[in-house]
Amino acid sequence: MPKESDFRLVESPVPRPASGEVLVQALYLSVDPYMRIRINGASSYAQSVQPGEVMVGGVVGRVVESNDPRIAVDDVVEGMLGWQKYAVAPAKTLRKIDPKNAPVTTALYVLGMPGLTAYFGLLDICHPQPGETVVVSGAAGAVGSLVGQIAKIKRCRAIGIAGTNEKVRFITQDLGFEGGFNYKETPDYTARLKDLCPNGIDVYFDNVGGSITDAVMKLLNTRARVAVCGQISQYNADRPEMGPRWLGQLVAKQAKVEGFLVHQFADRYDEGLRQLSTWLREKRIRYREDIVDGIENAPRAFIGMLEGHNIGKQLVKVG
Ligand SMILES: NC(=O)c1ccc[n+]([C@@H]2O[C@H](COP(=O)([O-])OP(=O)(O)OC[C@H]3O[C@@H](n4cnc5c(N)ncnc54)[C@H](OP(=O)(O)O)[C@@H]3O)[C@@H](O)[C@H]2O)c1
Repeated sequence: MPKESDFRLVESPVPRPASGEVLVQALYLSVDPYMRIRINGASSYAQSVQPGEVMVGGVVGRVVESNDPRIAVDDVVEGMLGWQKYAVAPAKTLRKIDPKNAPVTTALYVLGMPGLTAYFGLLDICHPQPGETVVVSGAAGAVGSLVGQIAKIKRCRAIGIAGTNEKVRFITQDLGFEGGFNYKETPDYTARLKDLCPNGIDVYFDNVGGSITDAVMKLLNTRARVAVCGQISQYNADRPEMGPRWLGQLVAKQAKVEGFLVHQFADRYDEGLRQLSTWLREKRIRYREDIVDGIENAPRAFIGMLEGHNIGKQLVKVG
C-alpha cells in the first residue's frame, strides 16, 4: 500500500506553451486504481512513473494561454496532465468539454474514462440480454456503479458486491440494483450469491479479482460472459495470491472470459459518450462523487480510494 511519504509536493516555474500547445490550469484531478500499477512498473501496456516524475492522471482544467487555433483561453479541457496545478500540453491531445452539457467533473467520470469502461466493457464484452443476471464487483465505485445501472437499462437484474453496508445501500436504494452484499461482513460469498442469484449468473463484470471472483465463477450459467476489467484486490499484494483452479468450470459451462482495456474502443468513444450523455440527461444514470479539496491531499485521496473509502468517483479539487 502506498504511503503519503512516498509523494512530494514540489514548486517549479509555470511552463510556457510552444506553438500548437496550450497552458491549462487544473480544476479537478482524477484518482484511479490504474495509477497503482503505474508506480510499481507492473503495467505491461503503459510506461511506469519514475521516482521524481509528476504523477500521471486525467485532469479537467481551464485554458489560461493558447498557442493553437483549436483551443481558446477559458475553454475547459480534459487530458492526461498529471497531478499538477498548471500543465502544458499539445492542443491535439486535449478534449474540449462543454460545461453547459453537464458538470465538468463528469468528464472524469460518467462522461469520461470510467463511463466508457463501463459502457464498452459491459455491452461489447458481455452482451447482456433482457432478464439475465449481471453481477458486478467493486459495485459502488466509479466503474461498478455505472455497470449496474447500464445493466438495468438493458433490462437485466443487477447484483453488486462492495465493501461497506453504506455502499450496498447506495447501489440498491439510490441506484436501483436488485441486490448486493458487503463482502467484508459476509463469511460465505457463494451462499450469499446463491441467495441473490437464484437463476445463476449470466454476466460477471470483474473489477476486483481474488476470492470474490473465485466465488462468482462457481455459479456461472451455461454460456456466461465474464469481462475482466480490473483486479484491484491484487494491486498491493506482495506476492501472487493462490486460489482454486476454475478454468475447468468454463469448459463445463461453455463460458467466455475476456480481459479488455478501455483504449481498445478509442475509435468508438464518440458513440459511447453520446449514449452516456443521453442516459445522464434522462436521469437513467445517477452518479455520486467523492471530492477531496487541495492538491496536497491527492496522495491521501489515492490511498483512501485503494482502501475503499470512496463511494462513486474519487476526485481532487485543485486550488
Ligand atoms: N480495463 C480498463 O480499461 C479499466 C479502466 C478503468 C478502471 N479499470 C479497473 O476497474 C476497477 C474499478 O476502477 P474504478 O476507477 O471504478 O475504482 P473505484 O471502484 O471507484 O475504487 C476502487 C474500489 O476498489 C475496491 N477495493 C479496494 N481493494 C479491494 C479488495 N481487496 N477487494 C475488493 N475490492 C477492493 C474499494 O471498494 P470496496 O469498499 O468495495 O472494497 C475501492 O473503493 C479497478 O480494478 C480498475 O483497475 C479498468
